[in-house]
Formats: sequence, C-alpha cells, structure tokens
Amino acid sequence: MLKEKTIVLGVTGSIAAYKAVDIASRLTQSGARVDVIMTKAATEFVTPVTFQAITGRPVVIEMFSLSSEFSIEHISLAEAADVIVIAPATANIIAKLAAGIADDMLCCTVLASKAPVIVAPAMDANMFENPVTQDNLSKLKTRGFITVGPVSGRLASGKEGLGCLADATDIIGTICQVLGENSDLAGKHIVVTAGGTQEPIDPVRCLTNRSSGKMGYALAEAARDRGAKVTLITAPTWLTKPIGVKIIDVCTAQEMHQAVEDAVLQADALIMAAAVADYRPVRKLDEKMKRKDIGLTLELERTPDILSGIRGDFIKVGFAAESSNLVENAKQKLQQKGLDLIVANDITARDSGFGADNNRVTIVDREGKIDSLPLLPKREVADNVLDKVAELLDKR
Ligand code: CTP
Repeated sequence: MLKEKTIVLGVTGSIAAYKAVDIASRLTQSGARVDVIMTKAATEFVTPVTFQAITGRPVVIEMFSLSSEFSIEHISLAEAADVIVIAPATANIIAKLAAGIADDMLCCTVLASKAPVIVAPAMDANMFENPVTQDNLSKLKTRGFITVGPVSGRLASGKEGLGCLADATDIIGTICQVLGENSDLAGKHIVVTAGGTQEPIDPVRCLTNRSSGKMGYALAEAARDRGAKVTLITAPTWLTKPIGVKIIDVCTAQEMHQAVEDAVLQADALIMAAAVADYRPVRKLDEKMKRKDIGLTLELERTPDILSGIRGDFIKVGFAAESSNLVENAKQKLQQKGLDLIVANDITARDSGFGADNNRVTIVDREGKIDSLPLLPKREVADNVLDKVAELLDKR
C-alpha cells in the first residue's frame, strides 16, 4: 500500500513531536519515501538529524536553503507528495493553514499542493476546545482536509484531557485509507466478521475458541485500504480496532448472527472469518456456578449457522478451519453453505492459522478452481482473498 508512495510528513512544535519519529520510521519501513518538513519550533523538540537518519532523506526546515536537493522546495515537494500528513499539528499551524498564511516551508508546501492533507492535532485541551481552533479546524475540513484525533490522555501540563496526538497506527491507517480511496473496491461495502464468539455459562465463564481475530482484522484493513466501506463485526479480541472501519462489537453467535443480518442488507460481500461457536450452553446461569465435589455435565445446544442461513445478492466468502482432508471438507462446506469462495486452512500447522501472524491457505471457488497459497503474512492472504472478491464483483 505504502510502497514507493511519497509522503510529506510535516512536524510542528508540539511536545508530541517525538511521536512523529515513530510514524516516520514505520512509514519508511513500509517502503514509503518520507520527506520530513519541520517548523523551526519543532526543531526545539526533536533534531532534524533524527528524522534524516530514520528516513534516509534530507529534512527541510528553511525556505531558502542553498544546500538542498530540491529545486524550489515547496513546489517540488508539493508536486511530489501523494499525501501530506501534519503530525503533530499545533493550534498555530492549523490557524495558519485556515487563513492561507505562507510564511514557512510547511505552510507553503501545503498551499502549493493538490495532494490530500491529513492533520493530526496535538495541543493543550483548552487550546483545542477554544472556539477559534474549532472554527479553524471546521474550515480545513470544509476544504477537504482530513483530521485524525486528537485523543484523550495525559497532556504536557500533567492534566488529563482531549489534546493528545492520535495513535501512530491510526495515523498510518488514515494515510492508507486516503491513498487507497480510488482503488479496486471503491464504492463497495464489505462486511467482515472476526474473532471467536463467547457463549456464556455463568457471569464469569464462557465457551470460546482460540481464534485471535487477526485474519478478520487483516481483511477489514486490506478492504479499507482498497477503497471499500467496511463493517467489521468482531467477537472479543485484544487487537487494536482499525480506524476508518465501522466496528460492531458482539459476544455470542446469536449476537453475531443478528449483526450480520443487519449489515448485509446493503453489502456487496460478506467475508465470515470469525470462528463461530457451534454449540452454546442451554442455560446461562445468573449467579456464578459453585464448585462441587462431583463431576459436571454441561448441556449444549446448536447455535445458528450464520453463513448457511444468510440470503441476499452479495458475494459470500467462508473460511474452513480443518484438521484433515482440507480441500474435500472445504468443498463440502462451500456447497452446503452456498458460498462463492471458501478459504481453507489447516489448523494443525504450527506456523499458520489460529493465533499466528501468518497463514497458509487454499482458496476454492464455486467452479472448483483450487488456489493453494504459500505461507504468507495474514495481510497478504487478505489481499489475495480480496483479489478474488474484486474479480467476482467485476463479473456481476
Ligand atoms: N460459520 C457460521 N456459523 C456457525 C459456524 C460457522 O457462519 N455457527 C461459518 C464460519 O465463520 C466459517 C464457516 O462457517 O466461515 C466454516 O466454519 P467452520 O468452523 O470451519 O465449520 P463448521 O461449519 O462449524 O463445521 P465443522 O466445525 O464441523 O468443521
């Protein structure tokens, strides 16, 4: 997604400037060309050398620097940028951009560029809430600037409040979303389910499984980065919720069933990556079950099979978690559940599947075409699945 993209990272004079180093590093590691423009005030918090070392690129501060590799810097950077990100953005830079002031390299570059601009404010909570800052931000949004954050947390003053720089993952997620806006899934609505459902036994115990949710979250992020509107219906996981995606939290198979039924009403594709419990306790106790000196038998009943029951004019993709006869069982599930595609994985493999960062899957389609992929990061598996979903959507 970020490979070979030119990202201009504007860093302004906020205490959160040090967090921009992490953003620059992660963008660079993802293959982006990161050109950092610092305001004078920013250099009081972090030195340009830090950014230069991290990005391997010259850092721009002065408007009229003879030693620079850029011709007329603000013009060449403005033209080269696929996206401009200002993180952290102080109240000062927000005000200057709103007023069209062009008295430093960052302002000039933004003014001269046609690239999308993402602004991640970070400042004292009172400064952020001040009507003049709010007015300035509204002006920027009206002109098409995208904002991310701020979030609540501990501020430089030591107080808690709304003014902290958004998380680096959310800023990078927003960059990916902006860059992918016109990609192959633009205008499509993809519903993804993720995680292992939890079926309560009593207020503290439940029946669940080892699904981490990583595959579903990777699918949701990949679809977002390819321009889709994404609804992620998620069972409880410890994963960070992706930005730019509509999140619906559920716990049980029954809740997931209801959420899927509602979401698919306007969906182009449903991808069921969740590990849905097949059985649930017949009774959920209101009080914690007490230990006794005899064994215990739990009476279980079937949960609804969400995929089998769901109907509608959308592409249906299922996953098949198998411990034997991978392709045979997957083909059977594809037939029984009326799917367009099924993604089968061998859950006995140690290096892939449940909980792992990688997955080795075989994708089977309705025509019986079998595509066995090598061991790949889940994000790459997600893109392979979405390639096929995009192909099917194109044919409709
Ligand atoms: N699934 C579902 N509703 C259920 C169980 C599973 O929609 N109650 C979906 C899963 O999200 C997955 C597909 O069906 O996309 C296959 O799930 P899997 O657990 O592999 O198979 P099951 O149908 O549960 O069959 P079995 O456990 O016997 O292999």
